[in-house]
Amino acid sequence: MAGKRKIGMWLYKNGGGKAIGKKIIEKLNERDIKVIDDLNLRNATARNSNIWYNEKGKDIKLNNLDLFFSYNAGEQTIYQTYLYQALNRMVPMINSYDSFALTEDKFQTSFILRNAGVNTADYRLFHRDEAQVELKKILKKWKGMVYKPTNGWGGAGLSKIEDEDSLRALMPTLNQSNIREVFVEKFIKYDNTDFRVDIVDGQFVGCYGRKAGGNDWRTNVTSGGSVFIREPNDKIITVATKAAIACGADIAGIDIIYDQEQEEYVVLEVNGIPAFATPEQEKMGLDFNNKKIDLIVDLIDRKTKK
Ligand SMILES: Nc1ncnc2c1ncn2[C@@H]1O[C@H](COP(=O)(O)OP(=O)(O)O)[C@@H](O)[C@H]1O
Ligand SMILES: [Mg+2]
Repeated sequence: MAGKRKIGMWLYKNGGGKAIGKKIIEKLNERDIKVIDDLNLRNATARNSNIWYNEKGKDIKLNNLDLFFSYNAGEQTIYQTYLYQALNRMVPMINSYDSFALTEDKFQTSFILRNAGVNTADYRLFHRDEAQVELKKILKKWKGMVYKPTNGWGGAGLSKIEDEDSLRALMPTLNQSNIREVFVEKFIKYDNTDFRVDIVDGQFVGCYGRKAGGNDWRTNVTSGGSVFIREPNDKIITVATKAAIACGADIAGIDIIYDQEQEEYVVLEVNGIPAFATPEQEKMGLDFNNKKIDLIVDLIDRKTKK
């Protein structure tokens, strides 16, 4: 008997996520795919060959699911991520664990992108013990650079280094924490706006722009930036699609800026869990949510075909 397809889902609830989740479930149900929602792997356990989730007194064997859709950047935990890796050995996941882990790390992502012929900011990686000497040399060459924690988000922890004073100011941060790797990028001269391009299953979904607030050079909303309607051009769509595919990301949000000196687009990072447009942003005119939902539903349908 070919059983009914059954998938697990964990999707953020804030910023309109709850309504998005409901739509996805309805559309999957229409295709006869059952969805078990709210499966935070934080609450799962493993016993020998199985990963279990207890829901309302009922034990669900997660490794028997046909697919798991994990989409909650805000509530990720170390344990949840650890089981993500294990579960994906047995069950297809969106995004795959490998792609998820890759896009969580800015150096690993840039390394892959560069080798795939996607333009990124020039970068260097050093062991912490050599960083001080090496950063001094590279600063002379680049004039300005950005220190980035390899696993950061929202513009947090980024420091712009323009001279030896700001370099010295960074050293205590590197020395006191348990950091081993030091990742720096060349500071790109740009107009303090970016493009955020969403790609699902290798297809263009939507684009918007962000503008840095006040004197800040970071476009992140959490760093004071604001979102605005912005149309992409063909070059931007091509570069974003190439970046998503290089990262093996079924779903990706690519951050792109325009380098005014080199006169070319630069991919800053690939986000594996890019947020849907919030209800406020939809009112502004960001209208890509339905297209994104449809592409995700198609993708889940295709990946679970028996
Ligand atoms: N090399 C760079 N040159 C100039 N600005 C940068 C550079 N890297 C990042 N930024 C600015 O900082 C913001 C955050 O950087 P990003 O790499 O996207 O990390 P995060 O995960 O924190 O969003 C970008 O949106 C951009 O505005
Ligand atoms: Mg970013």
